[in-house]
Amino acid sequence: MSFTIAIDGPAAAGKGTISKAVAAHFGFGHLDTGLLYRAVGRKTLDGMPAIQAAQSLTADDLKADDLRTGHVAQAASKVASIPEVRAALVDFQRAFARRSGGAVLDGRDIGTVICPDAEVKLYVTASDEVRAERRYLELSANGHAVTREGVLEDLRERDARDSERATAPLKPADDAYLVDTSGLSIDQAIAAAIAAVDQVKR
Ligand code: DC
Repeated sequence: MSFTIAIDGPAAAGKGTISKAVAAHFGFGHLDTGLLYRAVGRKTLDGMPAIQAAQSLTADDLKADDLRTGHVAQAASKVASIPEVRAALVDFQRAFARRSGGAVLDGRDIGTVICPDAEVKLYVTASDEVRAERRYLELSANGHAVTREGVLEDLRERDARDSERATAPLKPADDAYLVDTSGLSIDQAIAAAIAAVDQVKR
């Protein structure tokens, strides 16, 4: 039997950490859908047209080790506004969502477009400043030369593009449960997400 948990929200709100923990807690599979767009964006930086990159994407492309950089994130956000790129990635995501044993998918349009019938939808958010600080700490810990201002500017630019695009813009589904992680520790945010899922699962 399949059980799908859709987790959406803006960049660096804590979706990734929460999704991994929720998936581990329930023994579900986890798909970080941002990685698909990052892998496509990565290929365009090498000169491949975006639609071609999306249509020819393979599991190996998701393993490139620079997918987490800000540069690739911006490229991902740009290719994500192209309807044909999004269309090429739909079947893979829906197949993952239907896998037996349960699935957690995190992204921007999971609850609205990819899995509108998901059993649970969470919309994870936090203030711009909190998100930028977290991303800054994460990137600098990983050895990237970044500034707080640069990271904040980058996030705001990406959120604006992701929210304002015509196809599958970032927005909470009408029936999403909102989790604002601004004032929460990682453990508290994970507990809030698990509690929301438990309400439906029981
Ligand atoms: O979650 P992330 O920061 O790794 O995502 C990178 C970009 O990919 C994001 O800025 C917008 C795009 N994206 C999307 O449009 N739809 C998704 N479901 C996931 C990501």
